[in-house]
Amino acid sequence: MKAIRYHSHGGPEVLQVEKVPRPKPAKHEVLVRVHAAGVNPGDWQIRSGLAGNRFPLPYIPGWDVSGVVEEVGPGSSLFRVGDEVFGMTADSGACAEYVAVPESQLAHKPAALSHVQAAAVPMSSFTAWHSLNKQGRLQAGETVIVNGAAGGVGHFAVQLAKQAGARVIGVTSGRNADFVRGLGAGEVLDYTAAPLEGTPWQADLAIDTIGGPNGDMLLETLRSGGRLVPVTFGHYNAEKAAARNVTVNEVQLLQISKTTLETIANMFDKGDLRVALDMVVPLEETRRAHERSESRRARGKIVIEISR
Ligand SMILES: NC(=O)c1ccc[n+]([C@@H]2O[C@H](COP(=O)([O-])OP(=O)(O)OC[C@H]3O[C@@H](n4cnc5c(N)ncnc54)[C@H](OP(=O)(O)O)[C@@H]3O)[C@@H](O)[C@H]2O)c1
Repeated sequence: MKAIRYHSHGGPEVLQVEKVPRPKPAKHEVLVRVHAAGVNPGDWQIRSGLAGNRFPLPYIPGWDVSGVVEEVGPGSSLFRVGDEVFGMTADSGACAEYVAVPESQLAHKPAALSHVQAAAVPMSSFTAWHSLNKQGRLQAGETVIVNGAAGGVGHFAVQLAKQAGARVIGVTSGRNADFVRGLGAGEVLDYTAAPLEGTPWQADLAIDTIGGPNGDMLLETLRSGGRLVPVTFGHYNAEKAAARNVTVNEVQLLQISKTTLETIANMFDKGDLRVALDMVVPLEETRRAHERSESRRARGKIVIEISR
């Protein structure tokens, strides 16, 4: 089968189109004929070596997948050949014509979404859902600040927080302000025009999808007793957090839950959630997709279309 693969860490140029053996589904896995693979920052973080050496080379990138079940592995009972499914692989590999995926990490594709749209959903929406509801313990009526509101995780976090009955403040650059308001943010802070410090909000919860030095500024947007949930690594001054009585959660590397994926699929089918696509490219142009993700300017999601 055709796949994107690399043999050494480096820039987007290490990504090659290659012929590789088609995987066999193991116990409790299904083989998916991939229609589309979603791109996440983790893809280029692993490719460049930033994420360390725990991912064996040669490596096929891609965690998010949407496609059709081609073959059912031993002991698998949840899907049948021909089912349209979406979800997250256990160990990347979605940038290929076929990938084997544990059936526990897949759900039926929402009928309302194309494969390209569905492939954009799993990792980002699950991360947003988990950080708001599980780590952030969001309650209706609370105020949530989403840092990086226009990105893959952020654009779902704004919508999911609004759906949960929260007042949402989105932090984004001015060019994305209308986009973020359209997702349900009551207010937007253009971080290129004004610093986060000194904002009048006393938010209950902050979701940080950006990290870096901005973390300390986010602490100042929270009320005493507020919670900060980072989905990526940032600098949060422990003394400042303690002085402000703000709890800072640990970054968690998440494994998707089937139940949550089904809940999210249902929200799409009911029209309660939508996905924004920044860029869709064919498999042969995966380099371009990585470059775009690495630019940190994507509005919504980047997807690689593999077959129609
Ligand atoms: N813990 C996990 O399991 C998990 C899962 C998924 C993702 N992550 C991590 O979460 C992070 C976000 O992922 P993502 O997919 O949302 O990234 P992304 O889609 O690449 O984020 C791009 C967005 O970031 C915004 N942005 C860039 N700099 C900003 C700043 N200083 N302040 C506010 N917004 C800014 C950009 O908007 P503007 O152009 O308007 O600035 C753009 O829309 C990544 O580091 C990723 O590795 C972790």
